[in-house]
Amino acid sequence: MEIKPFKVEEWMNEYEKEAVYDIAGTCVKNFSLSELFSFCGVDERDFMHNLSQKTLTYLNISGSDEYKNGICSLYKTLKPENVLSTVGAAGANHLVFYSLIEPGDEVVSVVPTYQQLYSIPESFGAKVKILRLRPENDFLPDLEELAALVTPKTRLICLNNPNNPTGALIDDDLLKKIANIAEKNGAYVLCDEVYRGLEENSVSSSIVDIYEKGISTGSMSKTFSLAGVRAGWVATKDKKVLASLFSHREYSLICCSVLDEAISALALENAGKIINRNKKILAENREILNNWLSAQNNYYCCAPKAGTTALLYYKKDVSSKVFCDRLSKQKGVFTTPGFCFELENCFRIGYGCEKSLLKRGMELLNEFAYGI
Ligand SMILES: Cc1ncc(COP(=O)(O)O)c(C=O)c1O
Repeated sequence: MEIKPFKVEEWMNEYEKEAVYDIAGTCVKNFSLSELFSFCGVDERDFMHNLSQKTLTYLNISGSDEYKNGICSLYKTLKPENVLSTVGAAGANHLVFYSLIEPGDEVVSVVPTYQQLYSIPESFGAKVKILRLRPENDFLPDLEELAALVTPKTRLICLNNPNNPTGALIDDDLLKKIANIAEKNGAYVLCDEVYRGLEENSVSSSIVDIYEKGISTGSMSKTFSLAGVRAGWVATKDKKVLASLFSHREYSLICCSVLDEAISALALENAGKIINRNKKILAENREILNNWLSAQNNYYCCAPKAGTTALLYYKKDVSSKVFCDRLSKQKGVFTTPGFCFELENCFRIGYGCEKSLLKRGMELLNEFAYGI
């Protein structure tokens, strides 16, 4: 089966190795296991001892109780039977398309976003209609444009909230209006909520707490700083969808790692504490970013409201690929070019890194702007 190259992942693989100043990452300072234990006030030896007593068989096919209860605590109306564990949000998104999309189905997806959301349904033979998110609209979906794209043939609307790469946040009111358009046409809404919890001010609602045909995907990678654990989930209250997800999952997964779920359950028990840690890091770094932005005029940005990333636009007449390639080779600064998100004249930074790294990266961005 043909699928388009996954541009952001290919770029990362190629340029990550050369990075001296990596401000491309989308996580918030990931934990080591030791750091997680001490952050959660757990005795490392006890935890590892208990973990090593677990029989490594196929356990808890849909996900362990502790893990699924922890996930439910992040939602208002979910029950453990609404949740299936997956390998990351990447695995969750893939499972949704694998389970729901037939050749000829119509899918509407926002762009820019994580490429999975439009390239996987396209590879399964869906007709994918793109809803462009534009800076002049704060990168939020335009309801009139959405209403014009969605028809009774639309199987699925794909959103990503908070959004990667723009840092835009769809509030409850807008999310409800989107759900209304979906409902009128009998469409499901998949919302990739992998950055949920990392909002600047308000907390964003999940699509599953707003819409019966809503499907939420999430993971431990971004909000919980445990990307290496590779634990994610898909959640929905729609029984037909759940049955289909479960059936397709048997063919591709069976169950997830007993060890990953145990570590994730610990993090989820301490969700509030971890989210506060990460929000603090992001708020401080957002301030660095905003101060830097207002002190120069080579780059401009639509201020991010949530998540870990921002798009920086530059004023030079050069492609984003050439810009980021030269930035990497000349200054050692690793960023992600706009073309990975079907955009030009811009690049994405991740600001969940060490403060000193972010500051140095910004200084070098200034130097670079004068040089090209
Ligand atoms: C919007 C979005 N969805 C999904 C993923 C994949 O995340 P995970 O590590 O949970 O598979 C990413 C990773 O960057 C992402 O940005």
